Amino acid sequence: MKKILFVTSEAHPLIKTGGLADISGSLPKALVGLGVDVRLIMPNYQAIKTTEDIYYKSTVRVNNTDAHILETRLPDTQVPVWLVDCPEFFGFPGNPYVDEQGNAWPDSAERFALFCRVAVEVAMNRGYLDWMPDIVHCNDWQSGLVPALLSLEASRPATVFTLHNLAYQGLFPKAVADLLNLPRQLWSPAGIEFNGMLSFIKGGLAYADRITTVSPTYAKEIQTAAYGYGLEGLLSYRKDALTGIINGIDADQWNPETDTAISERYTISTLSKKRLNKTALQIRHALPVDGSLPVFVLISRLVEQKGIDMIMDCLPEMLTLPLQFILLGKGESRFEQQLTTIANKHPDKIAITLGYDEALAHQLEAGADVFLMPSRFEPCGLNQLYSQRYGTVPIARKTGGLADTVIDVLPETLSNKTATGFVFTQAMSGSLMEAIKRTLIVYSLPKTWQQLQINGMQKDYSWNSSAKEYMALYEQL
Ligand code: ADP
Ligand code: GLC
Repeated sequence: MKKILFVTSEAHPLIKTGGLADISGSLPKALVGLGVDVRLIMPNYQAIKTTEDIYYKSTVRVNNTDAHILETRLPDTQVPVWLVDCPEFFGFPGNPYVDEQGNAWPDSAERFALFCRVAVEVAMNRGYLDWMPDIVHCNDWQSGLVPALLSLEASRPATVFTLHNLAYQGLFPKAVADLLNLPRQLWSPAGIEFNGMLSFIKGGLAYADRITTVSPTYAKEIQTAAYGYGLEGLLSYRKDALTGIINGIDADQWNPETDTAISERYTISTLSKKRLNKTALQIRHALPVDGSLPVFVLISRLVEQKGIDMIMDCLPEMLTLPLQFILLGKGESRFEQQLTTIANKHPDKIAITLGYDEALAHQLEAGADVFLMPSRFEPCGLNQLYSQRYGTVPIARKTGGLADTVIDVLPETLSNKTATGFVFTQAMSGSLMEAIKRTLIVYSLPKTWQQLQINGMQKDYSWNSSAKEYMALYEQL
């Protein structure tokens, strides 16, 4: 049985800021189901919430700092989790990356460098846990130093680095790098140095035995200048080690048949009940209760990546069309302010909730007709998958995982029943607006619309096939 140490900075339901947590909470569970011995390691943030017991296991000393290792489980699973407990770094409110006011932690580099060093000790079986993995599977820049540090060890486990988002690289000034006391051999343009700065992500991209990213299209895109953020050269140099494996979803948690967060549960054969969830949404958001108006929703981090600016540009015209728009999001204050202003002016058409609300996210998926995902880039994206499972039709830009998972409505895709949504190509508000209008036309044809919903609901986006792809990758190592 392969032993995998899964290194991550967030995991649902312990702590979540985005899709990485969904994956860290569901992929290990799927792998355990396939007979793999997977254990998670992540920081013990003050904000972690769990009903499971937590035990003290050991203390390791790295770079003159003591860190305790605590053990728990991913709630309601058999997946062991080791929490790296170091209150001077992680014992504060806020999320993994920002404080309660939304400011990035000033000592992010120190925090995640410590986390990486502890993960290396555990990977080398020096954490007093009596377990040594065959493979260390790292995720995003926060764990990027792990493959780099492990490359210096004799008889080390193999390393896999999964890239969930190249836009976040963990770049820090050289002076910060000096504070971290990292081995000198790593500091070179072929290593963790990037234009004179320290790059955590390069620790993964340059040193991991295998690199994966979360969709086949994104794996190609990041080898080009438009998506590579200066790392396209390194990524194409490593293309033989790089693969794209599409994310799966936790099909138990995101299931309209059993979802306890929604008003009315439904399946393909009881699809008409979905409309009761729409009524509940309209009531909750004080919108006119009207079953005939399509409800468009968006659930997202409010950042440039997600195309929020394109939505802002489209809203004036959307207000003139027969639709309602509900948004749940949290992020950059400029977007939060603009959205609040426009929603306050049009309470009969737009409702927004600023903040993070897991239950509401489920209710929106269940009650909406259309899900907006006009991302400028999207390594995989999960909401277009959740939407399809809930019979909510996505409008998506043709990029990354959206291109791989949303099949555009065309005469031939309608007739062969493969269409699952509306796809547009240019990252421009005019193209988004066109897609919105196309959507309204098809929405006015109830039979076609229902077929579109069913096409999406019939897709299997569970981990069934993707977890096997990770297994196959582990086997090669
Ligand atoms: P990303 O990881 O880039 O944010 P994904 O589409 O992969 O994008 O995943 C986003 C995840 O975070 C989804 O599970 C989505 O429902 C959730 N999410 C994002 N913003 C919020 C919010 N404000 N409230 C609740 N859930 C949210
Ligand atoms: C990232 C990406 C998103 C992806 C998620 C999980 O945050 O932005 O597209 O779905 O990671 O892999």
